[in-house]
Amino acid sequence: MAPVDPHSYTDGAHPVVSRAALAFYLDFAASTIHASALLTLSAPHSGDLLLDTRALTVHSASTDADTPEPIPFSLAAAPDPVLGTALTLTLPPDTVSFRLTFSTSPAASALQWLAPPQTASAQPFVFSQCQSIHARSIFPCHDTPAARITFSLLLNVPEQLSAVASARHVARRDPLPSDHRGACDDEQWCAPGRIVEEFQMEQSVPPYLFAFAAGGIGSRDLGPRTRVYAEGGDKVLDEAAREFAGVEEMVKVGEGLFGPYEWERFDLLVLPPSFPYGGMENPRMVFLTPTVIKGDAAGAQVVAHELAHSWTGNLITNKTNEDFWLNEGFTTYAERRIVEVVQGEERAALNMGIGWRGLNRMMERFKDNMEFTKLKPKMAGIDPDDVYSEVPYEKGFQFLWRIEREIGRPAFDEFLKKYIATFKFQSIDTETFLEFLKTNVPGIENQIDLNLWVEGTGIPPDAMEPDSATYKKICSLAAEFKSGKLPSEDEVANWSGQEWELYLENLPTDVEASQVTALDERYKLSESRDYEVKVAFLQLAIPTGCKCYFNEVEKCLKQVGRMKYLRPLYSSLAKCSSEEKMLAQRIFSEAQEFYHPIARSVAEAILSKHS
Ligand code: BES
Ligand code: ZN
Repeated sequence: MAPVDPHSYTDGAHPVVSRAALAFYLDFAASTIHASALLTLSAPHSGDLLLDTRALTVHSASTDADTPEPIPFSLAAAPDPVLGTALTLTLPPDTVSFRLTFSTSPAASALQWLAPPQTASAQPFVFSQCQSIHARSIFPCHDTPAARITFSLLLNVPEQLSAVASARHVARRDPLPSDHRGACDDEQWCAPGRIVEEFQMEQSVPPYLFAFAAGGIGSRDLGPRTRVYAEGGDKVLDEAAREFAGVEEMVKVGEGLFGPYEWERFDLLVLPPSFPYGGMENPRMVFLTPTVIKGDAAGAQVVAHELAHSWTGNLITNKTNEDFWLNEGFTTYAERRIVEVVQGEERAALNMGIGWRGLNRMMERFKDNMEFTKLKPKMAGIDPDDVYSEVPYEKGFQFLWRIEREIGRPAFDEFLKKYIATFKFQSIDTETFLEFLKTNVPGIENQIDLNLWVEGTGIPPDAMEPDSATYKKICSLAAEFKSGKLPSEDEVANWSGQEWELYLENLPTDVEASQVTALDERYKLSESRDYEVKVAFLQLAIPTGCKCYFNEVEKCLKQVGRMKYLRPLYSSLAKCSSEEKMLAQRIFSEAQEFYHPIARSVAEAILSKHS
């Protein structure tokens, strides 16, 4: 056995799956997918082959022939809590492709099934979230970014629904008996009232970028290669179209900075509020939380980030999760370059400031586990969802910014373009990046302590707090809060959500309840429609012991399932006295049905850690 990735059973001595032809029958009543997969290997193989699965029921394995022969297979007896369950197939001599039939579990960790009363369209809805290691709960695969795949996908859904995927949409058509390859029987597949949405992905992507959603979804064109999709009807779509009107322009800016946009279309899907992230860079179809629609700079920032992944992440992918910074750090850097062009230098610097605060907060969070303050942490046995943090984003950003400062922007831009052109459609590790850096920037290792940056814990001394007038002003206003001074109406007159967020995150954490309520009486932050502001405020208020915000905390935890908000709110409550702990437990028990499985288990872990 030659492991390639601590988060996968993939054996590096064997060929990997390089193409998947998937047929999914979506059974909304049972929250289950009945599926078939025709998997093709990168080279012929005989004997044992290991695939990743989680909570899948495998019905059959057979050869890909006119008269299929069964292939012996077995699932490991007990699942590993992080990796899931290895599926071992014993392939006949020189097998190139083989077929599997299987069903997902209603508890599949990648999938959230929403019943009609839970959706804006009063239709059922399902969506996937595969990053980092959840694709295996949808289909057996080599669920490591080291193994890239192309795929085709047939989604068989009720005809009143439509579907999107991280792939080219080929057709919406009637189901054919020849489509399903045993996913279910012909009658079920071709039943009246069912429709097939057909997709193709011919560019190879890591399995974590496999994504789809189905529901009462409509759309609006934004530009020649950009469209926004959402459920909820005309009003929501109009609002979304207004929010994202600048997206085509952003794609052009990205192309100017990083080279051609390789994915043909850049569409956006606005998900129901339980979507566990701000955004997810699924190629051709970025998934977004509805909380980004609020008509200010922050929504554009999330879109700039997910767009930036089109180059730094989806074109060049981290080989394993230990190299995750290559993905998110580069993307955070690229995001800020896009923001700088589209929204100006001050806005980009403000974002860097928010990032800098975040990075410093992470040093506190991981003070007893400094491994996760490293750019390249050891991840064996660790669930990536449990240690997800700003470190790969912001320390990665700082590292690249440090290199930019050393060699100057023109040289760094040239380096970046060459890096992207050299490694596109590959999955690489940190060592490969460092070699490329040293080759293309000779002597860099004498100017920057690369080892300290990549392997050291904490924040290196040559990291830099951004230098911007707005950022500094906000930081000094926050410092004055301790002595009882609130910012004046004049001072906050031009503040958007991001300025407030930075202000609140810079306030001392040991403030009095009376100070917090005074601030809120003046600026109504606990009722802000901007969740970044609202959550930053509530996070400050909870430890003061002030109970008057319990209601807002509860509303927030029940309305939005984005983990960026759930984590700090549940953690703050769980760290308080028994009253707050009980509140957290009650809210969780009432809200958990509404959360995506990933968010549910993260919230559960927080509560059990502090119980
Ligand atoms: N790829 C991430 C989201 C992600 C990371 C999902 C790890 C699962 C595992 C995405 O690009 C992201 O970083 N989203 C941020 C946006 C922000 C940095 C602008 C988010 O969701 O908050
Ligand atoms: Zn990202």
